[in-house]
Amino acid sequence: MPRRSRILTSIAVLAVAGLAVAWGMSAPHPLTAAEIPAHQPDIANGKVLFNAAGCLSCHKPGPDLKNVDASLPAGGSPFKTPIGTFYPPNLTPDPETGIGKWTDLEFVNAVQRGISPEGENLIPAFPYTSYARMKTSDVLDIKAYLASLSPVVSPEKQAQIPAPWLLRRGVGLWKHIAFRTDQWQPDPGKPAEWNLGAYIANGPGHCNECHTPRNMFMAFDWSKQFAGGPHPGGEGKVPSLHDLIGRGKYKDASDLASAFQNGEMLGYEDMASGGMGEVQTNLSKLPDSDVQALADYISSLK
Ligand code: HEC
Ligand code: HEC
Repeated sequence: MPRRSRILTSIAVLAVAGLAVAWGMSAPHPLTAAEIPAHQPDIANGKVLFNAAGCLSCHKPGPDLKNVDASLPAGGSPFKTPIGTFYPPNLTPDPETGIGKWTDLEFVNAVQRGISPEGENLIPAFPYTSYARMKTSDVLDIKAYLASLSPVVSPEKQAQIPAPWLLRRGVGLWKHIAFRTDQWQPDPGKPAEWNLGAYIANGPGHCNECHTPRNMFMAFDWSKQFAGGPHPGGEGKVPSLHDLIGRGKYKDASDLASAFQNGEMLGYEDMASGGMGEVQTNLSKLPDSDVQALADYISSLK
């Protein structure tokens, strides 16, 4: 073979190998049934976690479901992101348009690995990047709570995003560098209450999604955890959660807990805009002890 065509052949071989590696790396890696713990579901705990995780904020009934109870996650409401508009789907137990027929494994793979039952990568506008760090038993409790709700017929609406297929494979590559799936670990040196707050904030509460800045790969920059920065929605800024008491924003942890519970209603105005109003509404539905634990943890951030 002449020298030039040998070089061309090697380049072609390398390109194909590169594509094959990218193809393999962008494929979803779902959990297997053996990785799902045996668990007796607890619907009451599922309801608490559903509120802590704010599932309803995104999966609320859309404008064409006016007669549907607004507390049901029937889906179809537009959710705008910098890459396009999503219509987070129906989470009620309707067997055809909701998740009535989903297995535990399918549900855990969607919520903790960002993989749909059809085997596609989901876009991390759905904060599975935080839910991955939850206890899987808590995720199964959310499923049990959802199964206890009234079914609503609400067919899925296609997301308005460019090149969905390529984008979803791209998310597969991104997961290799930016997706952390180790479960949240308590700090044995801290009180149980602080650890509960840390779990709520870093797992279900997905506070990092907005309050922790990202690096050039769109991965959380843990060296600046909770330091605030540009809003992931593309507009405005998210404040830092460091030293809220020292900076005089709240008198003490109880004052912060009161802000989480009451928000603007009691004149706490720094929790209203940029999606924080919805987060605060969800937090107000939690048991007092959970809110106080969250406030203890957040007010300890230096
Ligand atoms: C910040 C908004 C947001 C929150 C909060 C949120 N979701 Fe979603 N969810 C989405 C979006 C957007 C999608 C669609 C992602 C896609 O198409 O790639 C989605 C998709 C899903 C899917 C996949 C459905 C399918 O057909 O593949 C499930 C299941 C789901 N969410 C459950 C939940 C649960 C349970 C919670 C709470 C623990 C939750 N979501 C919280 C935005 C959200
Ligand atoms: C959707 C993005 C988003 C998420 C998720 C989010 N926040 Fe926020 N947060 C904001 C924005 C934006 C503000 C500023 C709101 C304002 O000034 O009206 C804010 C404000 C706050 C403040 C007030 C800060 C101050 O200076 O007084 C606290 C405290 C706070 N968030 C805590 C949390 C906690 C705890 C969580 C998780 C349970 C959380 N946030 C989740 C976006 C978010």
